[in-house]
Amino acid sequence: MPRKIIIDTDPGVDDTMAIFFALCSPELELLGLTTVFGNVHTKLATKNALRLLEIAGRTDIPVAHGADDALTGDFEGPVPFVHGEDGQGDIFLPDPARAPIDLSAAQFIVEQLRANPGEITLVPIGPLTNIALALRLEPRIAGWVDEVVLMGGNALAPGNASPAAEANIRNDPEAADLVFGADWQVTMVGLDVTLRVHMKPEHIAEYATHGNPLSAHITRILPHYRNYFEANYDAEGIYVHDSSAIAYLIEPDLFTLRRWPIRVGALGLGRGKTWPATGGRIPPEWESRPLVNVCVGVDGERLVALEAERLRGA
Ligand code: RIB
Ligand code: CA
Repeated sequence: MPRKIIIDTDPGVDDTMAIFFALCSPELELLGLTTVFGNVHTKLATKNALRLLEIAGRTDIPVAHGADDALTGDFEGPVPFVHGEDGQGDIFLPDPARAPIDLSAAQFIVEQLRANPGEITLVPIGPLTNIALALRLEPRIAGWVDEVVLMGGNALAPGNASPAAEANIRNDPEAADLVFGADWQVTMVGLDVTLRVHMKPEHIAEYATHGNPLSAHITRILPHYRNYFEANYDAEGIYVHDSSAIAYLIEPDLFTLRRWPIRVGALGLGRGKTWPATGGRIPPEWESRPLVNVCVGVDGERLVALEAERLRGA
């Protein structure tokens, strides 16, 4: 039986790759995409989600529009220098033919979990606002979910949105603290591992040879994203963020885990930093918090090969 998933996303170049990776993987059944601000505004994230499902020929999969702003403040704005003005590497696709469903992202998540208790894994690869709103709407979802496997955070590694914080968590630290504190199993696939998954120029070149619409789209949108990485990191190619969460669902043995309670910094320079309680004595602020599976090691080469294998077969 494939594992049922809902991907909560801000597409986004690497979100696109992750969604396509999931769609090409028989271990997973994508029940829907829910959208959130982050790489782009939510309105554009929704359009892109609909566009991506058209490219993949999967217009049977619903898209639910999500939160436009963080729980406690306005969205600080998109990152066109990373993902392009269109969130798709400045290729400017035509408008999608379909519209999102009438339910909000949080309502869709609650309804799906209510209808399939114990069967669905939530896979947030953007800020955690929709997941926190779903928890507020129906706190019992914590008992209905199978697992929450998210891309975000940095336990022991430095941040990317600031020296302290990873971008998804930095965009809504209050939502993230609620999600890490709820009574469900969260697995954090963060910068501790994703900055060790290196897709090199030769891997990227291979996507152009696959001869299917998914890999062709990836080939079109990657140059802008890759330019950002090559200008800001000391490596050629890209690091693999959102697809690493998909790989965890398919082959968890690629990763090594530690289990720690996590709090999220809310103030000042540490805003958005995910703080694990790694020491012997658990401080009061971390007490009574669930243990999060924190990915701290990864077989990056195998992960990159797995994603390419799946896309080759699309
Ligand atoms: O820090 C990486 C995350 O931020 C990814 O989800 C990427 O899409 C960006 O939003
Ligand atoms: Ca993302």
